[in-house]
Amino acid sequence: MTEQRTSIHGQWSNRMAFILAATGSAVGLGNIWKFPYIAGENGGGAFVLIYLFCIAIIGIPIMMAEVMLGRRGRQSPINTMATLALEEKRPAPWSILGWMGVLAGFLILSYYSVIAGWALSYVFRTAGGMFEGATADGVSSIFAQFVSSPESLLAWHTIFMVATMIIVARGVQHGLEKAVRYLMPSLFILLIVLVFYAITTGYFNDGLSFLFSPDFSKITPDAILIAMGHAFFTLSLGMGAIMVYGSYLPKDTSIAKTSIVIAGADTLVALLAGMVIFPIVFANGLEPGAGPGLIFKTLPIAFGQMDAGILIGTLFFILLVFAAWSSAISLIEPAVAWLVENKGMNRIYASVWIGIATWIMGIGTVLSFNLWADFKPLSMFKIFENSTVFDLLDFLTANIMLPLGGLFIAVFAGWLMRERSSQDELNTSSKGYSTWQFLVRYIAPIAVMIVFLNVIGVF
Ligand code: PFF
Repeated sequence: MTEQRTSIHGQWSNRMAFILAATGSAVGLGNIWKFPYIAGENGGGAFVLIYLFCIAIIGIPIMMAEVMLGRRGRQSPINTMATLALEEKRPAPWSILGWMGVLAGFLILSYYSVIAGWALSYVFRTAGGMFEGATADGVSSIFAQFVSSPESLLAWHTIFMVATMIIVARGVQHGLEKAVRYLMPSLFILLIVLVFYAITTGYFNDGLSFLFSPDFSKITPDAILIAMGHAFFTLSLGMGAIMVYGSYLPKDTSIAKTSIVIAGADTLVALLAGMVIFPIVFANGLEPGAGPGLIFKTLPIAFGQMDAGILIGTLFFILLVFAAWSSAISLIEPAVAWLVENKGMNRIYASVWIGIATWIMGIGTVLSFNLWADFKPLSMFKIFENSTVFDLLDFLTANIMLPLGGLFIAVFAGWLMRERSSQDELNTSSKGYSTWQFLVRYIAPIAVMIVFLNVIGVF
């Protein structure tokens, strides 16, 4: 019986622990590093609006679906999907959804760890006073020099991966839960402090209007795909990370309320990051479309100028690294849980093996910023003309694999699972249930499909 199923990996100690862990997974480099630079590359306001729209009508219902499937299955996403398919009398290959998620998590972590390594190195650079009184040009050239060295990038990537393996190896309650308890609130407070700095630049309004006044002439089908992909990426959806966290969730927790809280917190952090970064961009005559280096070229200017900048800057990068850690652990948790369940491995071995494979894969991203900067493997396709290995990994995972995973999750939860099962698991008011069902049956899958078809030029 479903009621009695328990997870062999343990359970969150309470509802708050789940909210913190899932928020820890959601809030990460996606919010602070990626959101500002893709918003900058895609013209700001209109892009941000589409992203917010995707969070509300696709992200939240799919998050509820993922948590629900996870809690019902109580195993790694692969086994959860296999079990639920059997229980709901659906074809066994639904477990492929779990496999695709494991692959996406592995590919994402391979580059995520490299970027987190940048943040880690910036902890020491900021603490060492490297940015004291530096100009915008100075900060940009420090960044350019840093990423041109494969050795440094590799070293920081290695340190980040090892630390991730250690946390994951320690398990649900000892490792994951403790790691996120205090960090998320601190990160939030520090972002607010930085917003106050951004107000003093005299360009706060320019930043706000870049972020919030939509100019739809800047929107292309690709930009819509990127905004939607980012809604999945930032909420950690479509690959089983939230599903596996849901599998450790106590039965009496409201899935709807927690999902809304998590998505709300995640969105707030991204918007705050944007409100910090764009005023600095405009105050210093920088380019909003500067790409993946954007935060590393802007925030250090602020830390170099403000009172107590060394302290605040160092703390900020420390918290960013922790935010990245709490996301990284969720990226490999589905794979670790599966190895423990099916191969009888202990968590330590499972984490080490996956960590090593991810580390090797990460070398492709390390080189994308230096030795392989001109290596564009898919340049024969117009859309990938300028894409490095890193760009391709990012595009494939965030814009294709996650939305596709989300689409299948929505179809399974909305159409293939018996209403009795989903209603029992979601345990929400009948109005809440029918709203969710409508979104997950029609709106989310159709929206994802339209965006895909739009990009390949069907309309
Ligand atoms: N949501 C994380 C971020 O915004 O940084 C990244 C991420 C974590 C994506 C876990 C996907 C995932 F499963």
